[in-house]
Amino acid sequence: MNMVGVTQETIKEAAALIRKGGLVAFPTETVYGLGADALNPLAVVRIFEVKNRPRFDPLIVHLADFSSTEKLCSSVDERARKLMEKFWPGPLTLVLPKTEVVPDIVTAGLPTVAIRMPAHPVALRLIEEAGTPIAAPSANPFGYLSPTTAEHVREQLGERVDLILDGGKCPIGVESTVIELTGKEPLLLRPGGLSIEEIKKVIGKVKISTISPRPRSPGQLTHHYSPRTPIRILKGKEFELITHAGAAPSNHENGDENGESIFYLKTKKRVGLLSFKSPKKNLPYEVVEILSPRGDLREAAANLFSCLHKLDRAGLDIILAEPVPEVGLGRAIMDRLCKAAGRDCSHRLKTGASTD
Ligand code: TXA
Ligand code: MG
Repeated sequence: MNMVGVTQETIKEAAALIRKGGLVAFPTETVYGLGADALNPLAVVRIFEVKNRPRFDPLIVHLADFSSTEKLCSSVDERARKLMEKFWPGPLTLVLPKTEVVPDIVTAGLPTVAIRMPAHPVALRLIEEAGTPIAAPSANPFGYLSPTTAEHVREQLGERVDLILDGGKCPIGVESTVIELTGKEPLLLRPGGLSIEEIKKVIGKVKISTISPRPRSPGQLTHHYSPRTPIRILKGKEFELITHAGAAPSNHENGDENGESIFYLKTKKRVGLLSFKSPKKNLPYEVVEILSPRGDLREAAANLFSCLHKLDRAGLDIILAEPVPEVGLGRAIMDRLCKAAGRDCSHRLKTGASTD
């Protein structure tokens, strides 16, 4: 049984698990969170694995002290300061420009990070004891309601979590309000535990975002990072030929997507490869980024956004991407690659995404 009551010892145990890259479900004043060390990409990837999310969504980073904001955010303006002063700790999440310290997997490749200081003594003590900010979405599997008791978490995630800290019922019971502060006007991305009226009293006008932060259809979230360089996903045989034999096939049908990829390789274009595993050496690419040399989906997911960023910065004409097996985290990786390639990947999301 991995569900324990809250004592000094169990909080210490939970904090040690977080430091080791484990997953701990913990109470906040809003809902239970599924927490991992926000600065450890492999730990963060386990959140997506356990939630069984078919895509990578940006996560909220939970803090226990104000000084962490300087470490995680590259600019904290006057509006942000005022809101923090007034409402932290509490059910308010702020989206601000991120620093290099925040791994790309935490923000799904976005240049911004969502941060909040929860108003729950157990959450605060856990973060303090762990000595690291904790990335946590609500502790429910994809497609389920957010849990407001430890029992909900146990029913929904069971033994897939390393530890569930039972801190009783969450007093607020709905998620935090999310406000983006990167543009001129503050933007409400998600209504939640703190009312918009309260927020307006402190910073004036707030624009209501018409874009749902929990998109029903993929791609609806405009904030999602997409590389500027065009991406093509390689298919079966073509991939084998290009990456493992190092030669492009000569007879291809004109106009189809595969033919197009091969065409790029044969012309003088600057072509990059996003490879799942270690490919053959001396391939005709300008840049090769490897998601996981040993072909491990967890490692591949942790590296996905940083590899895409590197390829995107290399001044290429096109990026060719090797598909990964669509099991476990592979589904979320393929979802992201499809979006980057501008392909419709709605068939991959069979469940409504409103309660993830
Ligand atoms: O109350 C809460 O906020 C709970 C507890 C555990 O803190 N957490 C929670 O996390 O609801 P989650 O992952 O279920 O929802 C996070 C929301 C999503 O709507 C996500 O799109 C948005 O925050 N978000 C996170 N980072 C963002 C970013 N950089 N830009 C825009 N939206 C972001
Ligand atoms: Mg959620």
